[in-house]
Amino acid sequence: MFNTTGWNRLRYTLYAPVYDAVAERTFRHARRAALQQVRWHSGMRVLLVGAGTGLDLPWLPRDVELHATDLCPAMVKRLTERARLLGIDVDARVMDAERLEYDDGRFDVVVMHLILAVMPTPEAGLCEAHRVLGANGQLCVMDKFQADDRPAGLARRGLNLITSAIATDITRQARPLLEATGFSVDEDRPVMMGRLFRALIASKTSAMPTRESP
Ligand SMILES: C[S@@+](CC[C@H](N)C(=O)[O-])C[C@H]1O[C@@H](n2cnc3c(N)ncnc32)[C@H](O)[C@@H]1O
Repeated sequence: MFNTTGWNRLRYTLYAPVYDAVAERTFRHARRAALQQVRWHSGMRVLLVGAGTGLDLPWLPRDVELHATDLCPAMVKRLTERARLLGIDVDARVMDAERLEYDDGRFDVVVMHLILAVMPTPEAGLCEAHRVLGANGQLCVMDKFQADDRPAGLARRGLNLITSAIATDITRQARPLLEATGFSVDEDRPVMMGRLFRALIASKTSAMPTRESP
């Protein structure tokens, strides 16, 4: 019950009014560091997936074509209001990261901050990011990850039963996840709490990932 998109929709709708109080300062450095790794150009087409209340908006360049999506209408409403206050033009829509309503190759940059550890099947979101990114597209990820070279131990998996229900999964591994979904990692740096939170830039390998239906 606690590891579903329906549960995420419900809990993030409840979290929306207090999200900024918890997340704004906490992740400010990490999200800036992540976005600074993107090779920005004027006019780029940028998609924020699981954009929440839009805390990334202040740290994005202004001369881009900006799109933002989130599962929860309450989040999209707050993001839209933030964009209005900042004077940023954004096409913000309610949308499931597993089923993006955009054409193949539509974007130059896809930003996925603090969503891969939240989705029940991050592979599905990454396959969609891969599909909507152009050939030279950049995927910008910032999240908490288990080390790539060893799976989570028993204690961490036990703790994960609690954290994944109320907040986030703490057992996922960035590189295996990205490589299994057709990406290669170009940049990878720790940004918070030692190496727990990492900011990565990934680009598409030539192979298009194929996902079998569950
Ligand atoms: C921890 S918040 C991160 C929000 C924002 N990216 C940030 O950095 O502050 C996770 C967000 O992912 C959204 N989310 C969860 N599952 C989703 C899905 N399947 N599709 C789109 N958004 C989703 C939630 O509604 C929530 O806004």
